[in-house]
Amino acid sequence: MKKLLLFLIFSFVILNANEKIPYKLAKIKASHVAHNFHKLMKSNAQQKFKEGGTLLAAQFCTDNAVKLTKEFNNKLEKGISLKRISLKNRNSNSYPKEDEINILKALDLLEKSSVYLPKIIQMVDKDIFKVYFPATMSGKSCKKCHGLKKDIDLKVLKLFKDKYPKDKAMNFKSGQVRGAVVVTVKIKD
Ligand code: HEC
Repeated sequence: MKKLLLFLIFSFVILNANEKIPYKLAKIKASHVAHNFHKLMKSNAQQKFKEGGTLLAAQFCTDNAVKLTKEFNNKLEKGISLKRISLKNRNSNSYPKEDEINILKALDLLEKSSVYLPKIIQMVDKDIFKVYFPATMSGKSCKKCHGLKKDIDLKVLKLFKDKYPKDKAMNFKSGQVRGAVVVTVKIKD
């Protein structure tokens, strides 16, 4: 009991100390936002997989990913925003900006070195930070829509071809970096 109490006090002190350092506060806030976004996308996709397999899930993503992301952003606290980026993007709007390209390339290099991929905090301005959460090809589900082209269901493939004529988001292997979720946080003084 005493140990638990000490641990709680210690955690509280650490957390409070972290909150006073701008980039650490940005990381804490961004992690919370990214976690909620992940939960939202995952629950929607899982539901559609259950109702109608990969095709329905793919249809849902093509029709709603942008809308869901916009709605999610609208609910965020002022000064915080979230987006998804990828060097081999499916949605043409997901191509990274210049400063983001190197970070995605660095994540690719790190992945090839078999390290646990870190969250990356980039300082954009003294009070603005971008926090990168690597999105990796985890589990089997990603492959159904981003794996080897020859293994993707033909109807799903046609859907992607119609909606994203310049789709580059196929032929990914397990564990590879598919892109990143980027949360931008402006810290108020
Ligand atoms: C049912 C099909 C489907 C599955 C499964 C799927 N995706 Fe996607 N993914 C899509 C579609 C469609 C888009 C484009 C959505 C849009 O218009 O923004 C997309 C976009 C993305 C993007 C945004 C960048 C871009 O290329 O436009 C990332 C990152 C991503 N997917 C990662 C993943 C990861 C990681 C997994 C596994 C955990 C996964 N996806 C599983 C269909 C899928």
